[in-house]
Order: sequence, then structure tokens, then C-alpha cells
Amino acid sequence: MAKLTVNDIDVSGKRVFVRVDYNVPMAEQDGQMVLNDDTRIRATIPTLDLLISKGAKIILTAHLGRPKGQREPSMSLRPVAIKLADIICRPVAFVDDCLGEKVENVVGGMKDGDVVLLENVRYYAEEEANDPAFAEKLAKVAEVYVNDAFGAAHRAHASTEGVAGIVAARGGQCAAGLLMERELKFLGDELDNPERPFVVILGGAKVSDKIKVIDKLLEKADTLLIGGAMAYTFKLANGFKIGKSLVEPDKTDMALAALKKAEERGVKFLLPTDNIVATPVETGELNKKGRPVIKLENHRVNSEANIPDAEEGVDIGPETAKTFAAEIAGAKTILWNGPMGIFEDPRFADGTFVVAEAVAEVTRSKGAKSIIGGGDSVKALNNAGLGDQVTFMSTGGGASLEFLEGKTLPGVAALSDK
Ligand code: 3PG
Repeated sequence: MAKLTVNDIDVSGKRVFVRVDYNVPMAEQDGQMVLNDDTRIRATIPTLDLLISKGAKIILTAHLGRPKGQREPSMSLRPVAIKLADIICRPVAFVDDCLGEKVENVVGGMKDGDVVLLENVRYYAEEEANDPAFAEKLAKVAEVYVNDAFGAAHRAHASTEGVAGIVAARGGQCAAGLLMERELKFLGDELDNPERPFVVILGGAKVSDKIKVIDKLLEKADTLLIGGAMAYTFKLANGFKIGKSLVEPDKTDMALAALKKAEERGVKFLLPTDNIVATPVETGELNKKGRPVIKLENHRVNSEANIPDAEEGVDIGPETAKTFAAEIAGAKTILWNGPMGIFEDPRFADGTFVVAEAVAEVTRSKGAKSIIGGGDSVKALNNAGLGDQVTFMSTGGGASLEFLEGKTLPGVAALSDK
């Protein structure tokens, strides 16, 4: 059933508890934590603008990283408050806790249209445990609940689920933010009734991560294009050698089941016909995590079905990239999740970038609907400078995958029906 959205509710003068996903990449620079990417913050601006214009008192709650109930200073949301204030050109008060007297005092002094960001809700272990007493404390300041954190909607935590239940039990409304609404529209409705041909591009490391999505999409798609390390498990399942490529030998049965289902349903299922391969060489050095540093040397195109024992597949090859690009060029709807190779290394980025360019081109020139299912494919599109040339890029990683698998997301289920 359709969920209530911020467009449907009256928030004037009310204290609105807004769960956002500000779990943004940060790095230390000269002893300070600095944001590397503010996409997730910018994605919530339409909701914040609307709530501000409606005269709400906006109490933002979010998590950052996985501090496991500890006050880990590098995971403070303070730098996010500064960034948000910069973006919306208005003050954002930061409270260094997410509940208790400090929060109540600041919220008590809020005027209509004011914005407050609370400290990392995961500084309390009770958040992930969805502890009812903790949710009650969080909910103390909330009259209305809004969830705009699609990226965290697959978590049944206190701030994504518990608080909504408490607000609803008190007779308050629980609505989706505009970002949440868009995510559900593009990853849900648009893909349920896609304009055809519907081409799905899947990459990434593991078949096991994506098998449920593959299974679900085999019921909807006309064509599936498979790249990334996942393709080596399919190659092995088909009886070919994969050398030192990343593989899940115990998942070949899953791969074969997917191939069988594709055949039964008449879905075109394309695996790479060539690869970029390289030779992994031990350097004798250890990385920060104490793991051996391996260098990939002497990369080349391998057009044989087998990958030689000493080599490893690192990207799709040029012939595959051309075939995939041609399939994409004929699509009316595209879903892309997962890179084609190790695109972070410029030597192995071509396959992913050819796909990115093909997706952007068919969107630009033929008005195809291109939906990017979050995570690394979003990073790849942004690296290629094409982030603004697709129809929709999801802000969710795990949440997008679970939603595409057809699972009910607890953060969505907790919202009021229309
Ligand atoms: C994400 O970055 O995918 C979301 O913010 C969820 O984070 P989590 O995997 O730590 O729950």
C-alpha cells in the first residue's frame, strides 16, 4: 500500500523527527575528519526545503559508521552539521547527543523552520538492538516522524523503526520523505512495469550477494548482462578455467540455476566473452590491515574461454564491452548494479566506463530510463563525470539490493499508509 509522504501532512509549528542517511564517507585530514562525498546530504535537501517552507521544527537523526555503542570521535556527525548548514545556507544547530536533557533544551528553544542535527545515534548500542526504552527516549521530542533514510531502511533499528511505532501509537503521523518516495518509485514502481526492452546490468564481486536479485530480475528483465568477479563463478560453473580470479566455487550451483531459469523464461543472459587478465605478484609487503600487498602486472586481453592458471580476471574485455554497449543502446529501461571490473585502478576501468557511457548515451539521446542501484556503480558513474546524465541514482547500497530482492524494508513498513 502507498505510504504517506511529507507532501500529505501538516507539520506547521510541529516538532518533526526526521531520520536521514548521513552515513557519508569521511577521511582524516590534518587531525580533522573531512567529508569525501556529500551526495547523501544533498539528496535530502528537497525534504528539508519542504519542511522548512511548511514551518516545521526539524530534528535530524542519523548514524555514521559502525561505532558499536561507543562514542568514537572519528564517527561524530559534527562535520556533517557544518556541511549541511553550508548547503542550505542557514544555521544547523548540532547537539552532541541524540537524547536526554541537552536535546530537550535545544528542541525547546526551536522556532518554526529551525534545523537541528543530533549526534550519531549508533553511539548507543540500543539503537541497533531496536531497544523499546531507547526508542521511547528518542521519540520524546517527536510529534511527527519522517523517514528519508532509504539507505538505512533495511535496518530494523530504533530510529528507523522503533520511533515510528511510538509516534504512531500516540496518534502521530509517520511519513516518507521525498528522497524515500523517489527511491521507492524508481527501484519499485518503475521496475515493476518497465518499458521494454528492459536491460539489467549486474556486476560486483560475489554471486552470493546478488543471487536473490538475479532470481527476482529474471522474472522481469528481457536481458541480463553479467560482469565483475561474479562472472568468474558463472565461467567456472560452465566448466571453464578461471585461473587466480576471484570466485565462489561453492556457488556454482546457484549460477547454474540462474542460467537454467534464464533459458526457461527466454531471458537473454550474457556473460563476458573476453576479459582483461593480469598476473598477481606478491610484493612481500603488508598493508595497514596486515594483509599481503599483491601487485597486478602484465595486463592483457584474454579472448580464450579459459583463463590461464597464473592469471586473474580484472575487467571485461573490449569485445564484451562492445556487445554490452550495443545491448544497452537498444534498451528503454536499464537497471545497473555493480562495476564490471576493478574500476578504481585506471588500467582495469575501461569495461565499467564503456558501460557507464553507454547508459548515459541511451538516456540522453533516446530518453531511456536509467536507474542505478547504488553503491559502486554510483561511484563509477560519478568518477566518469556522468552522474547527472542518468535518470536516477539510488543512495542505498544494501537497502537497494534488499528492495530489489523483493524484501519488505522495515523502515518503509513502519510508515503510515495513505
Ligand atoms: C549504508 O551506508 O549502506 C547505510 O547507511 C547503512 O549502513 P549500515 O550498513 O552500517 O547499516
